[in-house]
Amino acid sequence: MSVQVRISRLTAQDIRRRKSAEPIVSLTAYTAPMAALVDEVADFILVGDSLGMVIYGLDSTVPVTLEMMILHGQAVMRATRKALIVVDMPFGSYEESREQALRSAARVLKETGCGAVKLEGGARMAETVRFLVERGVPVMGHVGLTPQAVNTLGGFKAQGRDRAEWPAILADAEAIAQAGAFAIVVEAVAEPLAAEITRRIAVPTIGIGASAACDGQVLVLDDMLGLTGRVPKFVKTYGDLAGQVRAALATYADEVKARQFPGPAHVYSLKAE
Ligand code: KIV
Repeated sequence: MSVQVRISRLTAQDIRRRKSAEPIVSLTAYTAPMAALVDEVADFILVGDSLGMVIYGLDSTVPVTLEMMILHGQAVMRATRKALIVVDMPFGSYEESREQALRSAARVLKETGCGAVKLEGGARMAETVRFLVERGVPVMGHVGLTPQAVNTLGGFKAQGRDRAEWPAILADAEAIAQAGAFAIVVEAVAEPLAAEITRRIAVPTIGIGASAACDGQVLVLDDMLGLTGRVPKFVKTYGDLAGQVRAALATYADEVKARQFPGPAHVYSLKAE
């Protein structure tokens, strides 16, 4: 007899239905132990390509590869039971053509078992989003500050601070929503613009540095836990894990130097001969 364990994760459609309802809770996670903890509170977990900077110490997300995303996606999937897992499509894996995007997204879905992918870009990516959604790939959009475009944006700068920039950003969000995305990340935009995007589009907006006007929020876990050195201005830190790690390491180093090697239960007695 086989025993079946039913895993009832949230789906992209569940997130889609949360428009204008209970706010959507989300965080990034890249590793199994952290993902297991985040799964206790999150509606969806983003395996973000921010892992390039947070885990690998890169200067931007540009060098991140599909293979890196798949390995971390697999780790997060193994450790979670409840949240929808969304895996970022890295730079260079989807922009060339709709077909390239489908090949990459299919690898991510098949090899990780995740429930959705996320890709960056507005109106210019709408045709690709539609192509993927029509072929069974749930897609989350990402507009406003799109970190993969750091080299053309000239840095990680807030978007839409000048009202003249609004029509283009609004058109981006509308195009991606109409193309079938189930939710859209809105990054680093001024509150009134975030509110206007949220009012205009039919799917949930997930803010990151985009105010409480959005339908939910995603933060980079390591930033909000106080694990990373420099965090963006908009991030509230909910802990000082770096401080706690430093204190634990200092105690450890002091104890080793004082020859206090064994812990309370680490002294093995010899087997009787
Ligand atoms: O990669 C990431 O972590 C993201 C969030 C910043 C939304 O895309």
